[in-house]
Parts: sequence; C-alpha cells; structure tokens
Amino acid sequence: MNLGFLASGRGSNLQAVIDACKSGRLLATPRVVISNNSASGALERARREGIPAYHLSSHTHGEGLDEAILQTLQRHEVELVVLVGYMKKLGPRTLAAYRNRIVNIHPALLPKFGGQGMYGMNVHKAVIEAGERESGATIHLVDEEYDHGAILAQTRVPVLPDDTPQTLAQRVLEREHAFLVETLGKIISGEIRLD
Ligand code: GRF
Repeated sequence: MNLGFLASGRGSNLQAVIDACKSGRLLATPRVVISNNSASGALERARREGIPAYHLSSHTHGEGLDEAILQTLQRHEVELVVLVGYMKKLGPRTLAAYRNRIVNIHPALLPKFGGQGMYGMNVHKAVIEAGERESGATIHLVDEEYDHGAILAQTRVPVLPDDTPQTLAQRVLEREHAFLVETLGKIISGEIRLD
C-alpha cells in the first residue's frame, strides 16, 4: 500500500514506519512526506531516505494549500494518509478525497485529552494533573475536528507516581513507534477496517 505522511516536527514515528517498510515488517511503500514546517525533522528524515519531501504551508500556498496537499498526495498515488505529529487541520478537499483513508496518532487515550491545544507536553501535563493512572496512544480516523474521528486502536502505558510530563511523554512515545507500525499492518491486512 502506498503511504503518504504529514508531519510538523521531529518525525520519530515517521522514521519507525519507514524502517518497518524497509525491513519488510510492513508491506507498504512510503511515497511522500509533506510538512508545514520547512525545518522539520520529518522532512530531513524523508530526504535522507530518498522519499519525496515537500514543504507546503499557508505561507507557501495561501488559500491553495488544501488543493496543493491533495494534488501532491494524488500525484504520488497515495492510498493511505498518515498524520504523524501534524499540527494543522486538513482542508475540505483533501478530507473529501481521502475520506476514511486518513489516520492520526495521538499521544493519549482519546476521547480524553484531545482537541484544540492538546498537543506535545500539554497532553501529558493534563493527564498527570487529572490524576490518571494510565495513559497511552490512540490511532483514529481523521475528520474536520482535532482528534475526533472514529477510534481504530489504542495502547496503554502506566502513569507512575513520580512522573513528570517529560518522563510520561518518553514512555508514551517509545510505545507509539511499535503501536503505529502494528496498527498500520492491521489496516493494510484488513484486520482493522476503515469503513
Ligand atoms: C507523537 O507523540 C504523536 O502522537 C503526536 O505528535 C507526536 C509526534 O512525534 N501526534 P514525532 O514527530 O513522531 O517524533
């Protein structure tokens, strides 16, 4: 299956998927990486791996951004779009063309701790402040709202009594990498159905 990625930051989840494709653990081909951040680790990783990488943002494309993203995905024959730390909402054209073909990974157990402002350390800080005993990661379908579409899979990690947002973030992130690869494998094999 041809995969397309959107990412804003470091790109460690992207790298986990690329590595799994290279080793044959995941029967998929990373076709393109798009980022709104020209300095993102995700674009750097893609270029290092020889995967087409594009900086597309409201600064570079203004009102045409949605169309530019859609055309880039289609030009590279992307079948499944994976948001790996993408900090922006997708536009209506891309959402319509790839309805039920876009997934996101979120570093908490949705529907709690998601939505506007719930990204990065904010998520883990909120989990600790709420006194949760467990956190984890969620992979879900993407729709018009942040962290909102149907939940496809979740994984859990403990929240330890002396956790800081940083230590919890690290525990969740380490789990995310294998979880994302495993879940994409289930989507590709049809074990997890998207519609
Ligand atoms: C991950 O925690 C993911 O769940 C969230 O953004 C983070 C991206 O990390 N959506 P990385 O860029 O893959 O290292």
